[in-house]
Amino acid sequence: MDQVNRDKSWPTVWNGVDHAAILLRELVLRGAGRFQLPYQEPELCHCRAVPTEVVDRAIISGCHSIESVARITSAGTSCGTCKPDTEKLMAYRLNERLA
Ligand code: FES
Repeated sequence: MDQVNRDKSWPTVWNGVDHAAILLRELVLRGAGRFQLPYQEPELCHCRAVPTEVVDRAIISGCHSIESVARITSAGTSCGTCKPDTEKLMAYRLNERLA
């Protein structure tokens, strides 16, 4: 797929997975009854009181590293115990397998 991003106000394409592809995958999985985020609690980062939905939306919007999620949401910027859950959420959204 050609990854030309002429309109800079449009969400950035990163690593071949843009927000449209992520949401389309969610739609297909929901249609098949197979969509389930790997973290179900409403709050993902307890130190910074960051809801899971906020982290998920950051990932959908183009934050595809722990550092970029932390920069945008502040999740994972204190004790760091939420980072593995952020990684699982990111891997699921980006359709990757964790090593
Ligand atoms: S739980 Fe997220 S930084 Fe501590």
